Amino acid sequence: MSSKLFPILFKNLANLEKIAQRSITSRMNYNKDVENAINSQINKELTAFYKYMAMSAYFDRVEVAFPGAAAFFKKQSTQEWKHAQKLIDFQNNCGGKVILADIKTPKCEWNGLLDAFTDAVEMEKVQKSSLLGLHNEASKAQASDTTTFVDETYLVEQLMEIQQLVRMVNQIKRMGPGLGEQMFDRHLLKEVKKAEK
Ligand SMILES: [Fe+2]
Repeated sequence: MSSKLFPILFKNLANLEKIAQRSITSRMNYNKDVENAINSQINKELTAFYKYMAMSAYFDRVEVAFPGAAAFFKKQSTQEWKHAQKLIDFQNNCGGKVILADIKTPKCEWNGLLDAFTDAVEMEKVQKSSLLGLHNEASKAQASDTTTFVDETYLVEQLMEIQQLVRMVNQIKRMGPGLGEQMFDRHLLKEVKKAEK
């Protein structure tokens, strides 16, 4: 080995040792209840990802044929997956351990758009109370990094999400079944495509 490589190697080893030490220190300071609450929230986000995926697959069936709802729920599913991923990154950055729990098989059929969008509202409300639970655990542990993270990355978006879905439920009710649903779906498909551009 060239003698020029020794200082570089030595410096890299010293850096690695510093990183390992930092990780051990942050792990020692990391609250176990907060760590568990984050793992539980990861499971909730992945459950939502799975449910929205089931909804998208259902509305994309040839005999169901609601392409707007299929596209909308697919987008929602991707968002939930991203929410889970952000929590995984946060957990690791805090020196916590990610433990993935089982995800239940979701419902796979719905009785029209109103049924599915009403389910989506209920699911988002569960998400909201779970996020508030995580926020409370973090507050009790005085983990200000976690409370800020939950507030800024999740809670505001969660409230807007619920509002949007409740609006959609009301629109579907007003438009009625059959042709009304068809018109709602066509409009929804345009909106999803517009947002993708
Ligand atoms: Fe989410």
